[in-house]
Amino acid sequence: MNDSERSNSPIETRFREMTPGSMQRSHRAREVFPSGVVHDGRRMWPYPLYVERAKGAYKWDVDGNRYIDYFGGHGALILGHGDDRVLQAVHEQLERGTHYAACHDLEVEWGERLKAMVPCAERVRFMSSGTEANLMALRIARAHTGRTVLVRFRGHFHGWQDHVAFGVDSHLDGTPSPGVLDGIAEHVVLADATDVAGTVALLESRDDVAAVILEPTGGSFGAIPTAPGLLEALRDVTSRRDIVLIFDEVVTGFRVAPGGAQSYYGVTPDLASFAKIVSGGLPGGCIAGSKTLLDHLDFEESARLGREKISHHGTFNANPASAAAGNAALGILAQEGLCEVANERGAGIRDALNRVFAEEEVPWACYGEHSGFYFFTDPSRVGVDPTDFDASTWTLDDIKACAGQRSVRKFRLALLTNGVDISGKPGGIVSGVHSVEDVERTADATRAAVRALRAEGELH
Ligand SMILES: Cc1ncc(COP(=O)(O)O)c(C=O)c1O
Repeated sequence: MNDSERSNSPIETRFREMTPGSMQRSHRAREVFPSGVVHDGRRMWPYPLYVERAKGAYKWDVDGNRYIDYFGGHGALILGHGDDRVLQAVHEQLERGTHYAACHDLEVEWGERLKAMVPCAERVRFMSSGTEANLMALRIARAHTGRTVLVRFRGHFHGWQDHVAFGVDSHLDGTPSPGVLDGIAEHVVLADATDVAGTVALLESRDDVAAVILEPTGGSFGAIPTAPGLLEALRDVTSRRDIVLIFDEVVTGFRVAPGGAQSYYGVTPDLASFAKIVSGGLPGGCIAGSKTLLDHLDFEESARLGREKISHHGTFNANPASAAAGNAALGILAQEGLCEVANERGAGIRDALNRVFAEEEVPWACYGEHSGFYFFTDPSRVGVDPTDFDASTWTLDDIKACAGQRSVRKFRLALLTNGVDISGKPGGIVSGVHSVEDVERTADATRAAVRALRAEGELH
């Protein structure tokens, strides 16, 4: 898929007409980066947008077009772009220094905020990304239990390190993806989040499981639904079997609720990983969990218990700029009810878009939970009623197949030409600063987009 594959689609033509600057830059980028991008999720057909600035719920591309942004910094921006209070905290900190290679007040304040907000957080350790946080969570689980196996759920995303690199979009049979050792894949077992009894039986039947990790709202922030009762069942069986239960709260943390999905669902894991919102939209991440588990990083406790500690470094751990942004963002979220606003807007988008699909007789549905929304675009053409859609009745394969459809690629372009940017899942994530008017404009854009698709013969 590259620029030479021009089609005569009016939607594509319109997109190209309004984004010449992005096209030009994408040509340069292809000479530098594989596929011209620095993150697989930013690849787009026929080329990605190049963005110049962003504020609140909007971003502007290099050609001056404004979009309502539902990419949301890959979920990091529940406060929207450039919250003035976060920016001020970061600016003030930048003046005082970006890296002390020393301890500082902001990191202690940041850790204390996490302890106050997150149920499982007796202790915290900062790192630079969600990938790193999950890697450390797994290492602690192995060190603590003396066991090797990680149980994960098909379709749940936990970053790109070796143990979690397969079984998300591909290699759903658990075989290793390119570059991952067989020996690593052999120590990972994939389960189905729709099968509570089967997962419990799996965990009951093995003595080598160190940890279970999952996205507590379901894969890709609920795009792939989880069976009701899974969290409670996992909490029960992991406690009985001394298995470490890890919630990946990299997206759900401080988005579903100020205390994360664990406070919303009332199920407290042993360890949780955070990134994105935790550092206020700047790079950062952390693990939080029981003192017993995080003591594996503690020099004195490890010496006292006569065991070797887990070593942990990281040049940018709790760097002052991220700490300043994180403190400002978490302070706002703890007080201002923005998670509730984002959740309400998410529900508003899902309702409004399903109304559009029903009125326009489009056999697609918009679904999701909390501040996420996803499109089910009926890849096998069996017929979908947007007013009565239940994602849990569809398979992982059906849901994953949506992203590859030509009509979906065009839908995304048609939305862009109507001023709305969604991700390629296909779906989006809402912030606490998206307004009711933004939701209405998104519904209008969706109506225009599906009409344009129909005019090109893309909707059955
Ligand atoms: C649920 C989840 N876990 C982990 C990660 C990886 O985080 P990072 O991109 O900070 O490494 C992501 C990133 O999108 C995520 O969505």
